[in-house]
Amino acid sequence: MSSSASIQRHLEKIATRVFDSRDEGSKYVAREIASLIREKNKLGKPTVLGLATGSSPLLLYKELIRIHEEEGLSFKNVITFNLDEYYPMSPDSENSYHKFMHDNLFSHLDIDPDNIFIPDGTVTLEEMEEFCSAYENKIRSFGGIDIQVLGIGRTGHIGFNEPGSMLSDETRMVHLNEITIEDAAKNFGGEENVPRTAITMGIKSIFQARKIFLLGWGEGKADVIKQAVEGPETSDVPASFLQKHSDVLFVLDRPAASRLSRIESPWLTGECEWNERMKKKALIWLSHQTGKPILKLTEKDYKNRGLSSLLKTAGSAYDLNIEIHNSLQRTITGWPGGKPGADDKTRPERSEPFPKRVIVFSPHPDDDVISMGGTLLRLVDQGHDVHVAYQTSGNIAVFDDDARRFLDFVLGFSKKFEVAQDEVEKVYKEVTDYLRTHPDDGNGSSDVLSIKGLIRQGEAAAACRFCGVKEKNIHFLDLPFYETGTVEKKPLSSEDTDIIVNLLREVRPHQIYAAGDLQDPHGTHAVCLKAIFQALYQIKEEEWAKDCYVWLYRGAWQEWDIEDIEMAVPISPDELMKKRKAIFKHQSQKDVPVFPGKDSREFWERAEDRNRATAKLYDQLGLTEYEAIEGFRRHHFLDNA
Ligand code: F6R
Repeated sequence: MSSSASIQRHLEKIATRVFDSRDEGSKYVAREIASLIREKNKLGKPTVLGLATGSSPLLLYKELIRIHEEEGLSFKNVITFNLDEYYPMSPDSENSYHKFMHDNLFSHLDIDPDNIFIPDGTVTLEEMEEFCSAYENKIRSFGGIDIQVLGIGRTGHIGFNEPGSMLSDETRMVHLNEITIEDAAKNFGGEENVPRTAITMGIKSIFQARKIFLLGWGEGKADVIKQAVEGPETSDVPASFLQKHSDVLFVLDRPAASRLSRIESPWLTGECEWNERMKKKALIWLSHQTGKPILKLTEKDYKNRGLSSLLKTAGSAYDLNIEIHNSLQRTITGWPGGKPGADDKTRPERSEPFPKRVIVFSPHPDDDVISMGGTLLRLVDQGHDVHVAYQTSGNIAVFDDDARRFLDFVLGFSKKFEVAQDEVEKVYKEVTDYLRTHPDDGNGSSDVLSIKGLIRQGEAAAACRFCGVKEKNIHFLDLPFYETGTVEKKPLSSEDTDIIVNLLREVRPHQIYAAGDLQDPHGTHAVCLKAIFQALYQIKEEEWAKDCYVWLYRGAWQEWDIEDIEMAVPISPDELMKKRKAIFKHQSQKDVPVFPGKDSREFWERAEDRNRATAKLYDQLGLTEYEAIEGFRRHHFLDNA
């Protein structure tokens, strides 16, 4: 074994395999499961699977269904045990894991319903202990689990074994952790509706499986995966107990693996290929480690922190410091649309053509100003022809009460100005009646949703006006995939992409800005980005497209890593205040919005904290000190589309 492999193995105490996408990773696990079932079917023996719910195994289940349908794999001889179920929970309830498994897997297979075991969320507390030990006995009676599929929670839970769980725990009733409740809130329509307890197989029960696959997708899981794989074995991160199991594999996509040492700081774990990005990454890391700006780093700093090999490639610390300092400095520009007449060889954007036609895509009606309001203001001020395209209506994120308030306004308006009073009164009565009789379900009415959509349109238009965007350049795309009235969305279709293709053809932009939010796999941002990528794929051969730059901003409140920022747009204190005012135009999202997420700060506060933090990082590296910075990463769609 090479020394680098042994260092890696030393840091990674669990076997990991990193795939280019969650789709590939899921297909790999599906193949493993299918081949075991085939083998056992041949021998006339049952296969016992341990199954998980949640977003992690969804693509795996889809692939198993495909293998069953297209390759004829039979599940008649498969026994399944699910990890957990909320408690109390009736099996036919919308959020029960019984329903989840039925909808996403079992109803598509030829599995015998008698072979399906899922903890029963309807047992009484008195029956609980007996039920749990019977569940364990049942698993044992089938000879134990052959393959156990796991996801991992942000708390490090496997099953619902939250921090504090022990290796000796068997199936039992547990209390859910606060973070787990927060994560589940989206499906339950609010934290207050999430059950506080669940029944889960214990770590000991999971451990008895002969083979374990843990699926980890997305950046949101990266930190906890690092802790489980590289950290100490501790009940604070229950998944870390898997370090003791003899046959476990963490199947990860790149974002989920991104915090593993061999990816985050590969120079610490062995050989590393010193390309431009890696050099930047290493120097930013070294600067943070030593608390020194880049230009003050010494040879000793490099050598003491395991960066001798980098030093060798460059000759001296002095040269390397200057090279990386300059390349970071060059990402900073106050001219996001390019500086007319300037030498643009080392600038992020071309100076010509000037002015440029620009489309800013905003997944929800306020992401444009929240995420890149400072840049939007500059683009307009610098004379570019800026279009803003709101991809979804965002209608479910408005309180019923606000819809009601606007109805009152319209009624008052029609009376005051004596216009269409009868018609308005009719609609007013119908909608207010609906709201009164459906106090918790305004979104069940398409009229209420339309009113809410109009409220958000009005706010977005006000913000655009405030930023100087021309009225004719405001586009409300209302992509159909979003229009379900619930958090659950329809799959993306050609109807959605066609709308974007048409807009691109109409505007023929030189620059596109899009929310490159990769954090939440099923979130609206990721779907909106996919729609843009699919549209770009369709138009990439068109002449104008060859001269189009795509810039990705971060949709949520976190920023790109500094080494990935290719354009950093500084914001002065006055501009930051103006950006704040643009965000304030989104009144339905102010104070406490319908979907505040996991952060108690208001949207403008999150945006400012994030932009100030980015500026601080640049400052600490020894670059120019600004009040705030918005960061962008270029997407080379002609290569990638
Ligand atoms: C589900 C389960 C949980 C999930 C975990 C990750 O049966 O036992 O441990 O696997 O909470 O959830 P997702 O996959 O939704 O991120």
